[in-house]
Amino acid sequence: MTEHSAQNPKKLFIKTYGCQMNVYDSDRMVDALVPHGYVETRDQDDADLVLVNTCHIREKATEKLFSDLGRLKKLRDARAAEGKQTMIGVAGCVAQAEGDEILARAPGVDLVFGPQSYHRLPQMLDAARSDRIVDTEFPEEDKFAHLPRASKQATISRGYTAFLTVQEGCDKFCSFCVVPYTRGAEVSRPVAQVLEEARNLAAAGVREITLLGQNVNAYHGVDDKGRAVGLGKLLHILSEIDGLDRLRYTTSHPRDMDDALIKAHRDLDTLMPYLHLPVQSGSDRILKAMNRRHTRDDYLRLIDRIRAARPDIALSGDFITGFPGESDADFADTMKIVREVGYASAFSFKYSPRPGTPGAELDDQVEEQVSTDRLAELQALIREQQVAFNQSCVGQSFDVLLEKPGRQPGQLGGRSPYLQAVHLDADSDLIGTIQRVHITGVGSNSLNGELVAKNPEISVTLQHGRESVAATRT
Ligand code: 5AD
Ligand code: SF4
Repeated sequence: MTEHSAQNPKKLFIKTYGCQMNVYDSDRMVDALVPHGYVETRDQDDADLVLVNTCHIREKATEKLFSDLGRLKKLRDARAAEGKQTMIGVAGCVAQAEGDEILARAPGVDLVFGPQSYHRLPQMLDAARSDRIVDTEFPEEDKFAHLPRASKQATISRGYTAFLTVQEGCDKFCSFCVVPYTRGAEVSRPVAQVLEEARNLAAAGVREITLLGQNVNAYHGVDDKGRAVGLGKLLHILSEIDGLDRLRYTTSHPRDMDDALIKAHRDLDTLMPYLHLPVQSGSDRILKAMNRRHTRDDYLRLIDRIRAARPDIALSGDFITGFPGESDADFADTMKIVREVGYASAFSFKYSPRPGTPGAELDDQVEEQVSTDRLAELQALIREQQVAFNQSCVGQSFDVLLEKPGRQPGQLGGRSPYLQAVHLDADSDLIGTIQRVHITGVGSNSLNGELVAKNPEISVTLQHGRESVAATRT
């Protein structure tokens, strides 16, 4: 067997599926293992430990996982023939939902653990050397309080933008969704913990933080006096951090968009004018069957209030086609709400019955082809709106956070306040700075621009970006 030491560390490869919360979790798993002699590798074939961080939100995830695990078993056998040991772990929401089945069906797997257990990873790995392990408890202890802090170098090597999970789990129980079962009840991290993590990110050079939660706008972490603080107030607190220029948050539920949060969009220059606010369907009948607990009118009135607070806000959403019982008229209502709102971008999915959710038990399942056709029609409309929104940006100037080298030599890539990718010619020493960029054209999924003037002072105080860019409203 190979010996490992500081000179010859163990190599860890993580494959991440699913949402940004899984991306965040995967980074935290690395942070948990680095003090135990691991380094991250991008080469799966060279890894002593392979972790697959899974997502269970839509179907096929489990089948995809088992085919991954089949390939990993072969990799493990090939490495064993060279005298190298490989451990394989499955993390995340499929692990949470199907822990025992994974051990039964995938003989190469050493350990299976849910999203609430990854702070115990070093101990679990030790134990898994002698016995295969499933850990899908919802432990009493707070995993975040037990996780080591990433070094400044590790933090900034991940980029000038970072995710920060502030809330996990969901109590909404939309009838199509597995999240309340895989991630458990809503829990918010205390304000001091969030603040400390945000300060560390900023001190390492991170310029933009996206606060994450399955239902992030239900955030209600306690402050030092034990009082619950909402997301609007939390954003105010975080916007005071030196060097932290941009804040975003995702994903939100319409019912939790309270006044304080809407006002934060009006009052905070650091809060970027982009909001992902899923409605899922435009039909009241389907919204009720989905247990969304809001109507189409509630949603539209909410959008009006948000736009009154921040007129240039770019809106995004999630939609499901083919939820059980969805008629042509219901789907027409979805198309109508998309036209009424005018999205800058949106995500849409074909309904996928998830075992254990109430939706999966409903009789009136929609034919696959109908669902597919509706999805195509919806996606064409969303695409049209996205193109129109991007076009409306040509001729405007925005502050762009330059994040990385661009596609062509001599180019850099960054993000507009509205979360569009922007490409421009600029020196690589501007990576990590915020620059004023004049938008000159649109690419297929991005904007092209040029520097207005090189800004050495790296600050968003230049402008609020609040020019007349509004999502198209047809
Ligand atoms: N089928 C299809 N889409 C789903 N989503 C969640 N559960 C399902 C499902 N069972 C979509 C919703 C949600 C996004 C993250 O995934 O639109 O907002
Ligand atoms: Fe799922 Fe609904 Fe909770 Fe979102 S709000 S995580 S869709 S149950």
